[in-house]
Parts: sequence; structure tokens; C-alpha cells
Amino acid sequence: MAHLWSGRFAGDPDASLFEFGRSFSFDRRLFDDDVTGSLAWADALEKACVLTAADASRIRTALVEIAARGASDPGFFASDAARHDEDVHSFVERELIARVGDAGRRLHTGRSRNEQVSVDLRLYLKRRIPQVQQTVASLVRVLAGQADAAGAALMPSYTHMRRAQPVMAAHFFLAHAAAFRRDYGRFSSVLAEVDELPLGSGAIAGTSYAIDVKGIAARLGFSRIVANSIDATGDRDFVATFLHACALTMVHLSRLAEDLILFTSEEFGFFELADTAATGSSLMPQKKNPDPLELVRGKTGRVIGRLAGWLATMKGLPIGYSKDLQEDKEALFESEDTVRASLDAAGAVLAGLSTNRAVTEAAASGLLLATDVADYLVAKGMPFREAHEVVGSLVRRLVEEQRAFDAMTIEEWRAHSPLFDADVRKAITPAASIARKRTPQSTHPDAVAAALAELHAWLLSLA
Ligand code: ARG
Repeated sequence: MAHLWSGRFAGDPDASLFEFGRSFSFDRRLFDDDVTGSLAWADALEKACVLTAADASRIRTALVEIAARGASDPGFFASDAARHDEDVHSFVERELIARVGDAGRRLHTGRSRNEQVSVDLRLYLKRRIPQVQQTVASLVRVLAGQADAAGAALMPSYTHMRRAQPVMAAHFFLAHAAAFRRDYGRFSSVLAEVDELPLGSGAIAGTSYAIDVKGIAARLGFSRIVANSIDATGDRDFVATFLHACALTMVHLSRLAEDLILFTSEEFGFFELADTAATGSSLMPQKKNPDPLELVRGKTGRVIGRLAGWLATMKGLPIGYSKDLQEDKEALFESEDTVRASLDAAGAVLAGLSTNRAVTEAAASGLLLATDVADYLVAKGMPFREAHEVVGSLVRRLVEEQRAFDAMTIEEWRAHSPLFDADVRKAITPAASIARKRTPQSTHPDAVAAALAELHAWLLSLA
């Protein structure tokens, strides 16, 4: 069996070791990118007078044909000959030589698979990251839709998973949207890191041919050339950066899933899952389980694991290429697939969610207005620390008596502080609480409306 490197060896490699080292089963996903890179390389070799115009033209025609075959015939990758291809680069080169003979044998002049795999991955991510970003944006769109639908509904917010202060339900949906917008931006930063052409690095020391790397970069849509050929052939930082962006997006999905799992439970009952987004129990007829949300939360573990695993793979490597780097692709593809599927699933569940306004608003009233009572006293001139003490003892009493602020007579208020006037009863309501908020990031209805409008404008700007 002839491999790209057979000349150096007396015989074939051990069959099982060859199989162990193969990456074609998964790196065929880089097929289009490998052809794209090879087309650019053929042009560069022709410009450098390494290839004749006739050979370059034969190579181009064959590569275009190979790409078309790959697009139309899935069996192409499973042919008998392909079973002996080590990776996608070997596959394309063998197919090329099968079509144009010696011209094809000239294409690898001055080029190494070490830089080819890097350029392929970079081209792949340049194509795919915008698709991941669109999926992120779709979920943000659903969150914006839920914020619209929530209207003026109130709900409690939580710290330490204990009732904290009333907020608009829209503010809750916008909180999750804010995290996913950061993810969108983070993927843009990954794109910026990916945006460097490694071709011209050779196997490690650069290339001896007059390759116009700037020309290749312009043609392939890279805005920079890598700074150092040794670094370039062994650099997969951009893979780690991508995996980090995927892992953090999953963390945000997991937190959203956790909120929805809790808030759709019988104990909370704030939101209701659509029947289409839930599953039943084989035993307990009453169950309406949030399986898709649990799976999103569960899959987060594997994406975090891919990031941690990849960093561990990189940490022991000497500078330059080592075969360990081949492990990058499964980490990358699996994370990409998982994050996209999870974003879609979360979006589908969220789209069918309904809000039980009576329940959220009942829960948004009561002792979680304590901070507002303290603020009331502050407005009357009491130092905040003292107000905190006064309201603390008031709350202790109400907890014992199982009552809330709205059940107190004005005499009872005054027994705790003479600063309480009759207006206290109107001041201490959930609606007054949110209306008292003053900052743009707050849950004041105007601030939330402005944030929602800004979010819609952002979503429109993407289209
Ligand atoms: N399949 C290899 C990878 O994914 C391609 C580069 C191989 N280079 C080498 N010198 N063996 O990393």
C-alpha cells in the first residue's frame, strides 16, 4: 500500500497501528476546506513558476471535479481506495493523482500537511462559526419573544435561591439573553483569532519557494499571515478558544435549563412547558418531565470535558507539530454539534413556554419587599444600617405571625418607627418596588422596555 510517505520505509506499516493513526473517519468533514486550500496553493505554485500553466489548470479542473463528486456522492469517501487513506489530505491528493498523474504529484511541492491541517481547520471555523452564531441569535430571538409576551408580569428574583426582590418577568428573560449575547460576541473573537493564514510555514521552517502568502491570504479571506512558522504548525490555541466559547455557551444553556426546570415544577409553577416539549413517565401517569432541558444541562458536562481534555493534550507538547494535535478535531466537531443541537433544543422548549402570571405575581409579593421598607425609612432620613435593623425586627415578627407587610395597620407600622406615615401602605407593593428603580440596567419598566427595544434592534441588525 502506498502512503504519502512510503519511500522512507521498507514495508507497509502495521495494519492496526495504521488504523490507530487514521483520522479520515472524522477529518473528512474538512474535505471542502482541503480542496479550497489546495486550489489556492496550486495558483500560488503557478505564480511562483513551480507549476506550468498547463499543470496548474489540470489540477484546478480536477480539484473542482473532486469537490463536486464529494458533494454529490457520499459513497465517494467510502470507496475501496479511500479505506487506505490516512486522512482527508491523503484522500484528496490520491484522487487528484488518479485524475492528472504527475501534475497532481507536483501539488505538494513546498507544502506540508502540518500547515494544511491548520489552514483547513481555520477555513472550516470561518465557515461554521457564523452558523453557530446564528443559532445563538435564534435562541436570543426566542428569549426576546418571551420578554415581549411577559408584558408587565412580575415575578420574584432569587439570590441564594431564596426570594430576593420583585422583578419584571421580562427582566428575567432578558437576563438570560444578555449572557447569550456575550457568547455571540465571544464567537466573533474566536473568528478574529482564527483569521491568520498558516500556509507558507512548510512543515516547520517555512517554504523555499516564492509563495505569495499575502496573495493566498487575500484570496482565502484571511486578513493576516501567521508570525512564526514553528509556532504556526503546532498552534491550536484557536481550537482551545473555540472550545471555551462552546463550553461557556453550554454553561449558559445549562443555567437557563436549570431555571426552567425549577420554575416549571409543581413547587414553583411559574411557567408551563408545552406538551410538545415534555415527556411522560413509563410508570407514573401524572408526570410531565422536562427531559430536553435536562439533556441540555447534562450535555454541558461533555463540552466542558472537551475543553479540559484539549488543554491537557496541548500542555505537554514541544513547540512545532506533534501527532497529538490530531486529537483537536473530534473535540472541536463534537463540541460544535453539541452546542448547536442544545441551542436548538433550548429554543424549541422556550418557544412553547407560557407564564402563569397569577402565580408569579403572588410569589413576587410579601416579605421580599423588605428592602423597599428600608428604602422608605432612608427616604425619611434614617441611616440605611439603622433602617436595616428596624425592618429586620419587623420581618422577624411578621415571620412569627405568618403575615406580610400589607396586613399591618398604620399603628403597627409606627410601633416599629415613628417615621412610618400612612403613605407606607402604598409605597410597599411590588409595582411600587420596580417603579422605584432608577438605573438603566434595573427592572424599572421603562428600563426593561428600553433594553427589550435595544435587543430587538440588535437582532434586526444581524439579519
Ligand atoms: N491528520 C493529521 C492531523 O490531523 C494531519 C497532519 C499530519 N501531519 C503529519 N506530519 N503526520 O493532525
